[in-house]
Amino acid sequence: MNTHTAPEPPGPAAARGSDRQAPDGDRTIRIDHLSKTFGAVRAVDDLSFTVQPGRVTGFLGPNGAGKTTTLRMLLGLVRPTSGTATIGGHTYADLDRPMHRVGAALEAASFHPGRSALDHLRVYAPQAGVPDSRCTEVLGLVGLDGVARRRVGGFSLGMRQRLALATTLLGDPGVLLLDEPANGLDPEGIAWLRAFLRHLAGEGRTVLVSSHVLSEVEQTVDDVVIIARGRLVHASSLPELAALAEPTVRVSSPDDTGLRSLVSSAGWDRLVEPAADPRPGTLVLRQVRAAEVGARAFAAGLELHELATRDVGLEGIFLRLVGDPPAGGGPRRKDGDA
Ligand SMILES: Nc1ncnc2c1ncn2[C@@H]1O[C@H](COP(=O)(O)OP(=O)(O)O)[C@@H](O)[C@H]1O
Ligand SMILES: [Mg+2]
Repeated sequence: MNTHTAPEPPGPAAARGSDRQAPDGDRTIRIDHLSKTFGAVRAVDDLSFTVQPGRVTGFLGPNGAGKTTTLRMLLGLVRPTSGTATIGGHTYADLDRPMHRVGAALEAASFHPGRSALDHLRVYAPQAGVPDSRCTEVLGLVGLDGVARRRVGGFSLGMRQRLALATTLLGDPGVLLLDEPANGLDPEGIAWLRAFLRHLAGEGRTVLVSSHVLSEVEQTVDDVVIIARGRLVHASSLPELAALAEPTVRVSSPDDTGLRSLVSSAGWDRLVEPAADPRPGTLVLRQVRAAEVGARAFAAGLELHELATRDVGLEGIFLRLVGDPPAGGGPRRKDGDA
């Protein structure tokens, strides 16, 4: 999946030439055995994964999983305890003209409340080495052109997110790191963000988007990297993650004892989802079809009050993965681009 039919890129022609022609390898993010310890807290723990250009990658994990710390290490803002975080084989500090290579919007970006959106960008434009006109251009890209001269102090969280995104685009970078960009966006804002990120990836950029809610980004991302407690628990394409979904069957009977003996005699004890529903006479079974349960209940003369197939969905898989990270076995690794 790549970049050949890229629509007109949002950047100015001058900046475009710089990074756009770089080989894709230069836009690959590589996290290699990365660890960070803050005192007693192992915020990031032997984390390894890669992020490919031309794709939107969701960097997912519950709050406190280590996402922001990983992004901060990638940007050289936090020093790794061990391991490396590189972009195109270089650490951020070693990048030539970094604002043209990497655009980053970290969580809780702070804006001077008295400054207008345009003035905020004008502060960064010299660092990025771009002309003033580029500030107006990026405001247009994120749909803030109408409020360019309004003070940021009066902006909604969604508008601030857009302004943060505009700032990352100043240097027309080939790599974008966005920390929880969907936070605070209404459904319309999320739909806009989705289309925008897909467009940016379609141009061949590497787009890494963190979120603590998979459902927020599941329609946006091509790939997922899921971490919990600083460790990798899963990395794959989104379809590969979806393939892990298995339907479950919820069954209830007024005869709790009868239901349990039916489950045992069928050899399904292992398949009972623990504590899925604590009410007596109700069980949730994995890897069994409703028809099988119904047939056995019928044969045993067991009265059923409920027999329902439930799709656990992506969010269900996500919660399962982050709630139950593999202890002994090695983490799942992403095996290159699909
Ligand atoms: N500067 C810091 N000093 C001490 N602990 C930190 C610091 N930054 C992050 N942590 C801790 O590291 C862990 C991971 O945090 P973070 O990377 O912010 O997670 P996430 O972005 O996934 O919510 C948390 O337990 C957090 O409290
Ligand atoms: Mg965070």
